[in-house]
Amino acid sequence: MSDQVLIFDTTLRDGEQSPGATMSHNEKLEIATLLDEMGVDIIEAGFPIASEGDFEAVSEIAKNSKNSVICGLARASFKDIDRCMEAVKHAARPRIHTFIGTSPLHRDITALDMDGMADRIHETVTHARNLCDNVQWSPMDAIRTEHDYLCRVVEIAIKAGATTINIPDTVGYTIPRESSDIIRMLLERVPGADEIVFATHCHNDLGMATANSLAAVEAGARQIECTINGLGERAGNTALEEVVMALKVRNDIMPYATRIDTTKIMNISRRVAQVSGFPVQFNKAIVGKNAFAHESGIHQDGMLKNSETFEIMRPADVGLSGTSLPLGKHSGRAALRAKLEELGYELADNQLKDVFVRFKELADRKKEVFDDDLIALLRDTAGGEQNDRVKLKSLKVICGTEGPQQASMALDVDGVEKSANVTGDGPVDATFKAIKEIFPMTSRLQLYQVHAVTEGTDAQATVSVRLEEDGKIATGQSSDTDTVVASAKAYINALNRLLVRREKSAPGADVKEVKYTDAS
Ligand code: KIV
Ligand code: ZN
Repeated sequence: MSDQVLIFDTTLRDGEQSPGATMSHNEKLEIATLLDEMGVDIIEAGFPIASEGDFEAVSEIAKNSKNSVICGLARASFKDIDRCMEAVKHAARPRIHTFIGTSPLHRDITALDMDGMADRIHETVTHARNLCDNVQWSPMDAIRTEHDYLCRVVEIAIKAGATTINIPDTVGYTIPRESSDIIRMLLERVPGADEIVFATHCHNDLGMATANSLAAVEAGARQIECTINGLGERAGNTALEEVVMALKVRNDIMPYATRIDTTKIMNISRRVAQVSGFPVQFNKAIVGKNAFAHESGIHQDGMLKNSETFEIMRPADVGLSGTSLPLGKHSGRAALRAKLEELGYELADNQLKDVFVRFKELADRKKEVFDDDLIALLRDTAGGEQNDRVKLKSLKVICGTEGPQQASMALDVDGVEKSANVTGDGPVDATFKAIKEIFPMTSRLQLYQVHAVTEGTDAQATVSVRLEEDGKIATGQSSDTDTVVASAKAYINALNRLLVRREKSAPGADVKEVKYTDAS
């Protein structure tokens, strides 16, 4: 058995399915390029039949991919599989990933008995294999599927031509021992199991996704499915950075290799946090802000003498450069370009021009511009999509001990300037009410979160806003040294994303609605 473990990234499919993490077309292309450059073996680029937007994104990613296999998801229906192939066919190395829920709960939903589902699996995997020589099949909720039946359906899928069999822990229910036992059982009991690749796909509901994935590898799985920052439904998926670094750091007892260039991890983690609107928690393993920070005297003393006393990997291993000097208002364009390159951003001249203007504005308001300020600023510059329907023109807020607080706002809505003058219970409340007065929506504010990007009273505030409308969720983010301006821009950002979502049906909803009665 090979000691090479394939990394299958599903940030753009399973990750994007997390409520509110919708990414724009251009953002998806950018993340796919970063994944390809980092050495991801297989990129699951989307769910082509879910929406026109998903189809376009998968097709475009397939056209642009250099080394990675490009995969699309399809339910167990001919229509889904055909649509998936239409999108991935542009890739140098396309893959179709088709799945069906095999546990008793899922068989109930699809109204198929064991034999009926076995037939469905045979027909659909055969169909996929006739279109593409690289086919992955997943028995969704495999962990809660009866073992005998799991062996039976895996054998059928292999005989029908599947080249990768993925064993998903769809609800994050398993523990490491069971995760490895199941892979070992399949390898022992299923004829032909040694000729295909077994994959592990773990959700993190009990916080064990990474441990479960590694346990599966130790039992013989050779593909790990994961997402950047562990993005994904509910508590998320196995985090790419965690499994890859665990394999690297503990290669002494887990002698398996991946192709991932780990020095690119920090950059892609930050970018995914920005475009998905899901900030990384400070104490998150590998990519959290505090992952390499040492506060206590004993730890700092130990670090100064020998960094290995309190660090099991070096910051540079994941692409963190040492402490670097902040820029200021006298810094020029060349210094800004050099700093951005050091942070992993290569900008075209026209992009640099825009960023430089915003950097100067920020440097006028803020004495020192730190790396995190620049990253926040980059997000804001790239964040406003050309085709955003709603844009902030101006905002003036009156606040203080004498209420009510008041917001005067002008918005550009579909190219027409509209304004409102509104009072509220605090400046943020007044600001959000002004947006709603100008652009009425039935959406509900689900989350409003503010955090300081750096230290000091002149720090930029990053604001996250999550809106919900008819079960559709969108998250917006923005940063500014003025917290109320950042709040307004984050709200408008979420609003624009929600408007895009209105036109797109959520992949998760589709999965639940599927009726497995029509295979043609
Ligand atoms: O979690 C899951 O079961 C999935 C399947 C579609 C593979 O994401
Ligand atoms: Zn999943």
